[in-house]
Amino acid sequence: MLLEGRRALVTGGSSGIGRATALRLAEEGARVAVNYFSEQERSDAEAVASQIDPAGTRAYAVQADVGAEADVVRMIGECRDRFGGLDILVNNAGIEKQAPTLEMPLDLWERILRTNLTGAFLCLREAGKVMAAQRQGVIVNMSSVHEFIPWPGFAHYCASKGGLKLLTETVAREWARLGIRVLSIAPGAIATPINSFVLDDAEARHRVEGEIPLGRFGRPEEIAAAVVWAASDQAGYVTGTTLVVDGGMSTYPKFS
Ligand code: BGC
Repeated sequence: MLLEGRRALVTGGSSGIGRATALRLAEEGARVAVNYFSEQERSDAEAVASQIDPAGTRAYAVQADVGAEADVVRMIGECRDRFGGLDILVNNAGIEKQAPTLEMPLDLWERILRTNLTGAFLCLREAGKVMAAQRQGVIVNMSSVHEFIPWPGFAHYCASKGGLKLLTETVAREWARLGIRVLSIAPGAIATPINSFVLDDAEARHRVEGEIPLGRFGRPEEIAAAVVWAASDQAGYVTGTTLVVDGGMSTYPKFS
């Protein structure tokens, strides 16, 4: 097992990549706090936690809006108290909603940035305090190929992921001396609920598959495997960078 005894928090852990990551971290021996956003996701998050440990010792579900500072302070404090520390933060919570930029309402822009970027910052800052005191820890930010591939109709999402890229790189430099690694993982198109608008539309699905050299959507477990590696000592020399896990999507096959 790669993560025996580690203490982890996964934001947005009730579904998709977050769920697969929480389960995989636990398989590798970590204790896991499974964050969820609202009442709507509560039972899914609780199901993830009880799949790991029905007794609630090795895993529990915790509600928090990652964009709300007080929620994040409470969540990280609770995690530290229950587990006696925090070794791994997976900043996974993220949302997207297509909108042409000319018609993009400010509140939509703010909602996306608040969850995807400000949320990552708040969790990173609070987790960083715990990790700095321990002189060790790993933060894995769930970015996207859209931290470097522009995506028409998703300017807010791309801005959030582009921001995450430099947040990762900058904080990795600040915290290297504290024994904290900070890195990002950039998934391509993964078969999760965030993509249901494409997965449920045969034509759109086919088009996206055509953009991927491996010819298929990725599985959440394939991202979870990368997170586990990134969080483990196997990746002890990896910080301030992005690991791309995208079936080759970022080689821009359309241009070849
Ligand atoms: C988005 C997906 C999209 C993928 C590749 C991800 O960041 O969440 O909706 O399919 O990037 O374009």
